[in-house]
Amino acid sequence: MNERTSSNIAPISFVAMIGIVVVVLAAFLPIRVEVGPEAAQAQEEPTPQAVQVAQAETNVVEYTLRTRIGGDPAMAYVGVGGEIDGVVNPELVVNLGDTVRLTVVNGDPALHDLKIDEFNVYTGEIIDAEQSVTVEFVADQPGLFDYYCSIPGHRDIGMEGVLRVVGEVVAGDEGAMDASLEDEGYGSGDMDHGQAASQAVSPAVEDAASIVRHPADLPAPITATEPQHHVVEMTAVEVDGVLDDGTTFRYMTFDGQVPGPMLRMRVGDTMELRLSNEIESLLPHSIDLHAVTGPGGGAEFTQTMAGEVSAFNFTALQPGLYVYHCATASIGHHISSGMYGLILVEPEGGLPPVDHEFYVMQGEIYTEQDFGTEGHLDFSHEKMLDEDAEYFVFNGAAGALTQDEYALRADVGDTVRIYFGVGGPNAISSFHVIGEIFDRVYDEASLTSEPLTDVQTTLVPPGGATIVEFTLDVPGRYILVDHALSRLERGLVGFLYAEGEENPTIFSAENHPEQSGH
Ligand code: CU
Ligand code: CU
Repeated sequence: MNERTSSNIAPISFVAMIGIVVVVLAAFLPIRVEVGPEAAQAQEEPTPQAVQVAQAETNVVEYTLRTRIGGDPAMAYVGVGGEIDGVVNPELVVNLGDTVRLTVVNGDPALHDLKIDEFNVYTGEIIDAEQSVTVEFVADQPGLFDYYCSIPGHRDIGMEGVLRVVGEVVAGDEGAMDASLEDEGYGSGDMDHGQAASQAVSPAVEDAASIVRHPADLPAPITATEPQHHVVEMTAVEVDGVLDDGTTFRYMTFDGQVPGPMLRMRVGDTMELRLSNEIESLLPHSIDLHAVTGPGGGAEFTQTMAGEVSAFNFTALQPGLYVYHCATASIGHHISSGMYGLILVEPEGGLPPVDHEFYVMQGEIYTEQDFGTEGHLDFSHEKMLDEDAEYFVFNGAAGALTQDEYALRADVGDTVRIYFGVGGPNAISSFHVIGEIFDRVYDEASLTSEPLTDVQTTLVPPGGATIVEFTLDVPGRYILVDHALSRLERGLVGFLYAEGEENPTIFSAENHPEQSGH
């Protein structure tokens, strides 16, 4: 088929194709032009404006942009005044050599900025509503340049536009060339400053919250025999939280803790989920529940701005243990910062009773600064894209479940069930409890398949979950890990204490160490 199709078009295509390539190249030429005499001459089709340029005297051009959340696209810059008034993400046209004075006004109480990389233009963070920042630069190279908001996610959902600098570099126009060479990277004070800033660390936030959800904090089994309607209210909360001793981080959470609250319903039940986003939030948030059959798992109807509420209804069609998470760009930023949780849809008749149920989730945290740095660490979008996490965490913070306050506790002879999920967003977990064997694993959290029996380590993908069950036969300290054990040294470890009588027929030793484990 393919061969025949290509031979059909061959006779007519070559000339036409070359023509198209030339047209396409011409269209893109202004972007690709390097600033240099030869390249400048290669740009042969001056636009009408281009004819008027290359004047020597400095001309000042002023533009004002106002940020907007909501509408189409979801975030944008809107022109204020002059020809760009009311235009969404307007093209800003200036002549080569112009001094551009660009004012950005914050039209909402969210965090924004504006950058134009090629001119080292950066407004800095603009936080308050109606706050405005003016930047000034010389448009010393021709072409098309993107202006955009560098707050993670904002460009993806619309905050970008084009600056068109029209004109040609005239041979002998040394000033413009020197300036643009400097922009390429050498000897630019601005760039040095940027790099130094990323190495630095602010002091830890003093009143940072504990964001750790206690692993015993989950709803009791459903007892109703008839289908129920559940109304769940959740709040997106951005909060400075304790990541490690002496270390804080800006978390994004559902209800202030990581993971978010565990939700529980039974197959056939209905749920109304209401998501509010705190007025203090800098970003919009949303929720996608994998238990939902419907657009975006709810995310399409819950993109929620600061101070707003959204809601939807769904019916639980299939039993299982499902991940939920925020699905607002940059999704990886929101998830890794803590916006995930589990929703259990019990099968008809519920799950067999056990003595203890626990709720544990694994996540990654991407920081500019190295693991173990004290202070208030900054999120690194780059490391997130590289899937190069500094921290791995159970329930939100480094080693949180090893602390007496948050460790899992049970008695010898008890049956234990752990609802375990991976928020991620990227790393697969090889979930293992050191010193125990899982009697049953509901593999991939399927509750309609027979559970696996007698399992040492079970795989859990990001956006996936498992349910493991075991009986505690001997006392001691058991250790929850991802058996990719390098992650233990990056914070991924928890303790389960079993108290009670020794059982020497199962386990005995000469010495009696306080610490058990590998
Ligand atoms: Cu979010
Ligand atoms: Cu998902």
